[in-house]
Amino acid sequence: AHPGWPIQAGPLRVRAGVVTLRPVRRRDARDWSALRLHERDHLEPWEPTVEGQWRENNTARAWPGIHSTLRRHARAGVSLPAAIELDGRFCGQLTVGGIVRGALHSGWIGYWVGRRVGGGGVATAALALGLDHALGPGALHRVDATVRPENTASRVVLERCGFREEGLLRRYLHVDGEWRDHLLVARTREEHGRGAVASLVASGFARRV
Ligand code: ACO
Repeated sequence: AHPGWPIQAGPLRVRAGVVTLRPVRRRDARDWSALRLHERDHLEPWEPTVEGQWRENNTARAWPGIHSTLRRHARAGVSLPAAIELDGRFCGQLTVGGIVRGALHSGWIGYWVGRRVGGGGVATAALALGLDHALGPGALHRVDATVRPENTASRVVLERCGFREEGLLRRYLHVDGEWRDHLLVARTREEHGRGAVASLVASGFARRV
């Protein structure tokens, strides 16, 4: 058994609507592709370089292969790949990956959402749900994330969920044509207290549904 899989979290209400996390599905192909093709200029500056062209990599035909890789990693216990839904509609992805057990019990977390829902608290809600899930049912001790210093929106999201800065990783990841510096942020179970969702609710940012 792999703690935390299948991932299911929420619902949580924020300004934009009701946010939930659920496992990625094979039938997400059309929604996933439409969003990714439409939002290339929004996503590409922040995503790790992958081989091939954006257009081909993000057609509906590309999804079954990506989906089965994600599910295989989930079954092997090294990742928790989720779809982010807003009001029941696919609007992005959140993944806990690189899961190592033993004396580490750690993993990283990453996410994207479409611009149409941007600024409505969707990523913040998704990250809070994903982080609580990883440190709770996922039984991890530490979750970290890397973010480009220029990615102000994502840094706001991470800070709201209680991630603490640990340092600057120089020329860490190949993104948008260059090896880019990334800030390393993290949160451990000891620091997590009542959890990220409870903090968002207490501050009035989110409401439980
Ligand atoms: N300066 C200051 N604040 C900003 C700026 C800016 N330039 N841009 C956005 N913000 C604020 C917003 O106003 C909002 O704060 P508010 O609630 O006080 O208004 C906050 O940043 C964003 O919070 P959300 O609304 O929860 O985030 P959103 O749903 O818009 O998603 C995200 C943000 C995930 C960065 C989205 O734009 C996206 O997917 N971008 C492309 C991919 C990406 O960058 N993914 C993250 C990579 S890093 C990682 O995965 C750890």
